[in-house]
Amino acid sequence: MNRASLTVDPALRVSDVDPRLFGSFVEHMGRCVYTGIYEPGHPSADEAGFRQDVAGLIRELGVPLVRYPGGNFVSAYKWEDGIGPREQRPRRLDLAWRSIETNQVGVDDFLRWCRNVGSAPMMAVNLGTRGLDAARDLVEYCNHPSGTYWSDLRRANGSAQPYDVKLWCLGNEMDGPWQIGHKTAYEYARLAAETAKAMRRVDPGIELSACGSSNQQMPTFGGWEATVLEETYDLVDYVSLHTYYEQIGDDRDSFLARAVDFDRFIDAVVATCDHVRAKNGHRKRINLAVDEWNVWYQSRFAGEENLDWAEAPRLIEDTYSVTDAVVVGDLLITLLRHADRVKIGCLAQLVNVIAPIRSEPGGPAWRQATFHPFALTSRHGRGTVLRTDAVAPTHETAAQGEVPVLAAAAVRDEESGEVTLFAVNRDQGQPLTLDLDLRACPDLTVGKHLAVYDSDPEAVNTAEQPDRVAPRPLEDLKASGGRATAVLPPLSWNMIRLSGDR
Ligand code: AHR
Repeated sequence: MNRASLTVDPALRVSDVDPRLFGSFVEHMGRCVYTGIYEPGHPSADEAGFRQDVAGLIRELGVPLVRYPGGNFVSAYKWEDGIGPREQRPRRLDLAWRSIETNQVGVDDFLRWCRNVGSAPMMAVNLGTRGLDAARDLVEYCNHPSGTYWSDLRRANGSAQPYDVKLWCLGNEMDGPWQIGHKTAYEYARLAAETAKAMRRVDPGIELSACGSSNQQMPTFGGWEATVLEETYDLVDYVSLHTYYEQIGDDRDSFLARAVDFDRFIDAVVATCDHVRAKNGHRKRINLAVDEWNVWYQSRFAGEENLDWAEAPRLIEDTYSVTDAVVVGDLLITLLRHADRVKIGCLAQLVNVIAPIRSEPGGPAWRQATFHPFALTSRHGRGTVLRTDAVAPTHETAAQGEVPVLAAAAVRDEESGEVTLFAVNRDQGQPLTLDLDLRACPDLTVGKHLAVYDSDPEAVNTAEQPDRVAPRPLEDLKASGGRATAVLPPLSWNMIRLSGDR
């Protein structure tokens, strides 16, 4: 059996967790919006046509932030198509996903729905086919109180009060040749800077995120961020990064270690931001918005150019296994460990499209395996991240080299003093005994251990068996005298909650 150890010490603070780390993403893609969150004929639909069975699962998942409306979709989108009476909204060709966009859901519908599910919006503007004018009009429509063309139109469309949208993305993946209106780093940087300036003139209270790289393998990675920040540094608050992982062939060990790659990606973007800061003598720091991340079996997707025009087609509806859930949990641990610089995270996407929640038209909605580590981390990963100084055995992987078998992050709730430890055992064959040094917080004596694991690493949830994969309690935890021991099953994601005996 493998053995590892770590220390829980409230003095070893990394950073407070920004709750927006647990955001998600709704794109007009496939069935995320239509028959995902919105389906007027569904038995659970509210008056506005939004599914309440799905809304209930979203509340349970715990997503304080939802990015919208894309994704690649936003880069050819006219937001004005989605406002006003539904029967007058145009049907358009969506060039990103070769789909028919009916515009039955638009800005007002989404922002009201957001309020209803208890999430704040992160709105993206189109810097592909459009630019400064459309972006500043949208800020005026959403955030200006009244007395102007766009704000009065919002009022006429039923929202007397401004939505006060705080967080905005300056386009999406503009470094990607697949993007409609793709740009070079300098072309994008100038457009983003001027758009940011105009949007801030309309509402100085907003926060802005500039596009970084679509993934770490982009040939422009690093240089792209540096060029963009040279032009936009004082005008933006965040730079984005996107990342998706999948298991290649039967190499599960490498897949289980992908968080190591994610860790390096984040470090590299932080270094680039700080390089521009040092070079140009800026005072403020640019933080990171990982506004698309997940497991996505991209190799199974035929590519957008091979799609036929259709309304709400079934696109990339990946079914997630226990292994995928463990990887998602590990990626969340990485986000927590970088909470000092990563302030925003968006699990892409929310419903049906590579999503933790699935739904059938006219039918049920259910939790995928990945739902569980996300929901538990979002609920219990709030507070202060503590450095744990873990010591663990390593093993060799083909794609990631030598990696520790343990990934861990500890979060302390400052009010209750409770500490929650999130931990992954990446070893498929052996349990991992984890020794916890709690001498700095000897009052933590009571523990609860939940784990996602299974004798079948490919086990999944389906409409017929929606609870095949769920967290299971383990009774192994022993805590006393400032020490505790837990046993993490092979290939497992774990949550250990430690509290005082009060
Ligand atoms: O989330 C699916 C797609 O992945 C998004 O539209 C795009 O931004 C990314 O490439």
